Amino acid sequence: MMQVYVVDALNELSDEKFADYLKLVDDERKDRIMRFHFMADRKRSLVGTLLTGYVISKAFGVSPGDIIFEKNKYGKPFVKGRSDIHFNISHSGNYVVAVVGDSPVGIDVQEHKSGNLDIADRFFSNEERAALDATGTSMEEQGGVSCDQIKDSNPNDRQELKRRMFYDMWSLKEAYIKCIGMGLSKPLDEFGILEKNGEYKLYDDGAENDKYYFRKYALSGNYSLCVCAMDKGFPDEFVKVGIDEIAFNL
Ligand SMILES: CC(C)(COP(=O)(O)OP(=O)(O)OC[C@H]1O[C@@H](n2cnc3c(N)ncnc32)[C@H](O)[C@@H]1OP(=O)(O)O)[C@@H](O)C(=O)NCCC(=O)NCCS
Repeated sequence: MMQVYVVDALNELSDEKFADYLKLVDDERKDRIMRFHFMADRKRSLVGTLLTGYVISKAFGVSPGDIIFEKNKYGKPFVKGRSDIHFNISHSGNYVVAVVGDSPVGIDVQEHKSGNLDIADRFFSNEERAALDATGTSMEEQGGVSCDQIKDSNPNDRQELKRRMFYDMWSLKEAYIKCIGMGLSKPLDEFGILEKNGEYKLYDDGAENDKYYFRKYALSGNYSLCVCAMDKGFPDEFVKVGIDEIAFNL
């Protein structure tokens, strides 16, 4: 069992609703949320909290009030006393997303930003950098665009293709370090995730590691959304859920 949920948080949560739904969380969480300077961060954090309770209770039949959260030493939250429940959340731009399953999972959503992609030099493996550099100029097909179309396309289109590829790769890497629960304590250039025969393969410590599986979901034009799990039971599609539906079911 695995489910992926998406909330269009910033578009859905007005300031009035934010104030209303903030009443649904405990004081400690409220303090954490209100410590954010920007309203957008507060809203994403609140939606993440509510969505977490919602997905766990929906998938495992636990009442949100009975869930006690703890964190591993790298900060990954888990449910106390329930090693069978696996979940993870991510927020970026307008969206808050969650995955829930019965094996370790990690999820990452990334809004594509403008600016240069030099950061890849520091955080991508050699193989990933090579794949990124080849985007738009190699014989590969990217995102359904044929080789001829790429060759004929103007440099701006190629740059956009490269930007998408960069964020997809970034999101896959984040989903992996969140699945294993280490977060950024795992050096990002130490491993790579590359597409091979239509599937994503993890290369860690110089060898292929076939214990982790990856799935990319099409969210909207300028976002990348990826899930990493230790089983292959990815849903074909994510569920888009409204904030009122979440709040109503808590
Ligand atoms: C985890 C991490 C990769 C998140 O990346 P990000 O793109 O900034 O944030 P995302 O929105 O994708 O994910 C954030 C959520 O991931 C979860 N998370 C936090 N640490 C995690 C970890 N080690 N593994 C998996 N998930 C983690 C949390 O639920 C968090 O949401 P919350 O803060 O609202 O509760 C990154 O922030 C990180 O590694 N931080 C480490 C912080 C750290 O060093 N802490 C020291 C020990 S506490």
